[in-house]
Amino acid sequence: MVLTVVESFEEASSSVIDSVFASRYVREPLPRYRLPEREMSKEAAYEIIHDELLLDGNPRLNLASFVTTWMEPECDKLMVEAINKNYVDMDEYPATTDIQNRCVNMIAHLFNAPIREKEPAVGVGTVGSSEAIMLAGLAFKRKWQNRRKAEGKPHDKPNIVTGANVQVCWEKFARYFEVELKEVKLTEGCYVMDPAKAVEMVDENTICVAAILGSTFNGEFEDVKLLNKLLTQKNNRTGWNTPIHVDAASGGFVAPFLYPDLVWDFRLPLVKSINVSGHKYGLVYAGVGWAIWRSKEDLPDELIFHIDYLGSDQPTFTLNFSKGSSQIIAQYYQFLRLGFEGYKNIMSNCMESARVIREGLQRIGRFNIISKEKGAPVVAFSFKENDKSLAFKLSKALRYFGWIVPAYSMPPDIEDLTVLRVVVREDLGRGLADKFVSHVQVALKEIDSSPAHTIPRITFTIDLKQSGDIGVDGRVVPRIVTREEESGTEPRKITLTSGKTKGTC
Ligand SMILES: Cc1ncc(COP(=O)(O)O)c(C=O)c1O
Repeated sequence: MVLTVVESFEEASSSVIDSVFASRYVREPLPRYRLPEREMSKEAAYEIIHDELLLDGNPRLNLASFVTTWMEPECDKLMVEAINKNYVDMDEYPATTDIQNRCVNMIAHLFNAPIREKEPAVGVGTVGSSEAIMLAGLAFKRKWQNRRKAEGKPHDKPNIVTGANVQVCWEKFARYFEVELKEVKLTEGCYVMDPAKAVEMVDENTICVAAILGSTFNGEFEDVKLLNKLLTQKNNRTGWNTPIHVDAASGGFVAPFLYPDLVWDFRLPLVKSINVSGHKYGLVYAGVGWAIWRSKEDLPDELIFHIDYLGSDQPTFTLNFSKGSSQIIAQYYQFLRLGFEGYKNIMSNCMESARVIREGLQRIGRFNIISKEKGAPVVAFSFKENDKSLAFKLSKALRYFGWIVPAYSMPPDIEDLTVLRVVVREDLGRGLADKFVSHVQVALKEIDSSPAHTIPRITFTIDLKQSGDIGVDGRVVPRIVTREEESGTEPRKITLTSGKTKGTC
């Protein structure tokens, strides 16, 4: 089964691929979907693939993604140097293993894990936050099952409480590992999980409540402190001992630097595990995340595998076996290179660029900003005009300038709200932020003036009183008095005047 589809087999223009530059070396077309019969020179293979990749978007202008698109050349070099090391061969690459352990400890300290002197932190490098969330979720599920078994109670209906704004990886966790996902509905004006409603949904089968530090939809931080307080009260009443996981995929490398007084992490007793994406504001290219546990007791020992066929005994808790080492090395480079000060400066710069964009959009006057000033450096906005298509049109129009800005509908219950989201990363400096705002203005002008945007309007005047006819439904059939045709950009609202109705369709 082909799981990744860009264009269907039928739509693909041809079953062969051509390459202008490589035609110097390759004289015959190459099969698109079958292994070529013969080998080719390395120059030709390079050119063919290089040319095809020119059709991808420019990662630096991709404002859709939190994932890092720029690193220093020194780090690129280190990554290439480590590219042939399999991370899982820990006995063969002890320096790499040690570096990952240093990273785990640095992050655990950053998140205020209660680690005693000379005690190692408990955590693991993952492919991204998704894998980290699967592992943390499994640990909660197993701990809950063990407790229920010990109490002689049923343990076949675990559930997890989250906001409806969770990223798809939580739905994956729930489906793959057979845990019911109980989502707190979002409401107009409140785009994150309400802690009180979440605690109300907790029952004896709840393995944990997952709070998000940096909602995927608008970058907003959920109130973990309030959640901890309300859940503690409920735990005291019920004896359930329900814990909290914090999905700090984007906020985990923002909050400690910009909002050190915000209490969201292991300072809160019910927070037992936290995930963070190294490849988001950890400032590493795609492929690294971290799962950190509060203590050894929060990670059931039976989930840890001990492998010895690579040398000495190595404990592992990951979903897959082999993976590259480069991202771990790159994460360590960033920690060493930037330190607390460097991360703080970069996060402040990102927030400054986000401010420039937010205020620029506000000045245009046509948008509601639905992200918060305090949160991840994200600007999410919707049109004030009641036309869902406008967000998609703007997203498309910005493509003309190279910007990739997604437009999407919000989760169920507020799905009528269509939002555009700009993720500000380190490589979107102040100059580009200004440019972006001016390009939004130009794009809007084009949308407003395009024939596709103007809609035909027919204004008619009807007179109810003068019509004596009664329709089959018993209502008065209106008599049209006048009819004018014009075009505009917005439908007109129907207005009622005494005895007459003026309307637009
Ligand atoms: C809140 C949140 N959780 C989890 C994820 C998944 O993270 P990753 O891409 O690192 O697997 C994302 C991705 O954007 C996210 O925003």
